[in-house]
Amino acid sequence: MLKKEFIYGVATASFQIEGAADKRLPCIWDTFCAKENTVADGSNGDIACDHYNRWNEDIELIDSLGVDAYRLSISWPRVITESGELNPEGVEFYLNILKELKKRSIKAFVTLYHWDLPQHLEDNGGWLNRETSYKFAQYVDLITVAFGDLVHSYATLNEPFCSAFLGYEIGVHAPGKVGREFGKKAAHHLLLAHGLAMSVLAKNSPNTLNGIVLNFTPAYAVDDKNENILAASFADDYYNQWYIKPIFDGKYPEILQELPDSCHPDIHPGDMKIISHPVDFLGINFYTRSVYKASDDDYFEELPATGKLTDIGWEIYPQAFTELLQSLNERYDLPPIYITENGAAINDKIVDNEIEDQDRIDYYQEHLLAVNEAIESGVDLQGYFAWSLMDNFEWAEGYLKRFGIVYVDYESQIRTIKNSGHAYKTLISNR
Ligand code: FCB
Repeated sequence: MLKKEFIYGVATASFQIEGAADKRLPCIWDTFCAKENTVADGSNGDIACDHYNRWNEDIELIDSLGVDAYRLSISWPRVITESGELNPEGVEFYLNILKELKKRSIKAFVTLYHWDLPQHLEDNGGWLNRETSYKFAQYVDLITVAFGDLVHSYATLNEPFCSAFLGYEIGVHAPGKVGREFGKKAAHHLLLAHGLAMSVLAKNSPNTLNGIVLNFTPAYAVDDKNENILAASFADDYYNQWYIKPIFDGKYPEILQELPDSCHPDIHPGDMKIISHPVDFLGINFYTRSVYKASDDDYFEELPATGKLTDIGWEIYPQAFTELLQSLNERYDLPPIYITENGAAINDKIVDNEIEDQDRIDYYQEHLLAVNEAIESGVDLQGYFAWSLMDNFEWAEGYLKRFGIVYVDYESQIRTIKNSGHAYKTLISNR
């Protein structure tokens, strides 16, 4: 991964950094933030990193890190009006960014959906309504024509697991729906949206790298007792394989048969064919692993994280990263892989204009080595994106958790490169 062709980048997402909520339609995260006890610090995305007004200096910052690529997401409610047409003002915002990136030879990796569903679509059932998948394809059709040849890569969705499970099954993310019967239904419509959008991309944008970004939290059994191994494997199917198997094998994992009928997705004839449309790349987001044991009244029980944890409570376990990449590579016939997110929340302090985030540097070092090990064992990996360019709105944690390699002072909106940012720059420039 020290070859010049290996792509290094930084990643962000629209709702987490843009602000300027008044210049777009409301989305499900605006509504969710406005409810009580949803976001840890009671905050919202109204201003965030004020990237909407500071995009120019932010791109200069990205360029100063020497990265090859920038992964950003498009806010659907910013670019499409309620009646389904392009909103010129929103499109212009992204066109300016894409042109500036092009000018600086930074490759644009565009994610078309990073969780900010227009609220009016949620009012119509959101991802529980099959129609939303078709609305997504229409949005993708319009926006990809508008962007022309400014984009290097399109990802349809970011982490459909989070949208479906966190948003519609346990309700800790927007839109905050709770019920086992909802999660897999929402997941199916998300995957359908992905498949429909892949055909649109193949037609409108055949020269970009088109694919999807999935997150994986590898599931480990607490010990080698058979029942615990089975529990971990069930959890793996439920949380991880559920989103990748339909794409590469055109089927859901077998555990579908074990779930009660009420939890089965509404699969129409032809859906799995649409969902398994070939992809040019697979984006993988990795942060941590989980440990499971058998449960008396459920399919599995997740154990609390132990060992070395980041500030968000996630175990630091880089070995799982290598093992994940190797196991996916064995299990599926995969296209080239890009690590589209990896990083750590650290309780950063800014002292004399410096952020000494040695723990984050260690995290990156260990995880980059883990990726390298996977490459050396034969996995086709072509890029790596640090999450995140800068501290931002960390969903249900609000602004309390910092993932950036650049520090953001939310009062003054001043950005300061952390030591991890300097280290990343050195790594990239030393190739
Ligand atoms: C991922 C999200 C990203 C960010 C990181 C920490 O699940 O895709 O937006 O919040 O987690």
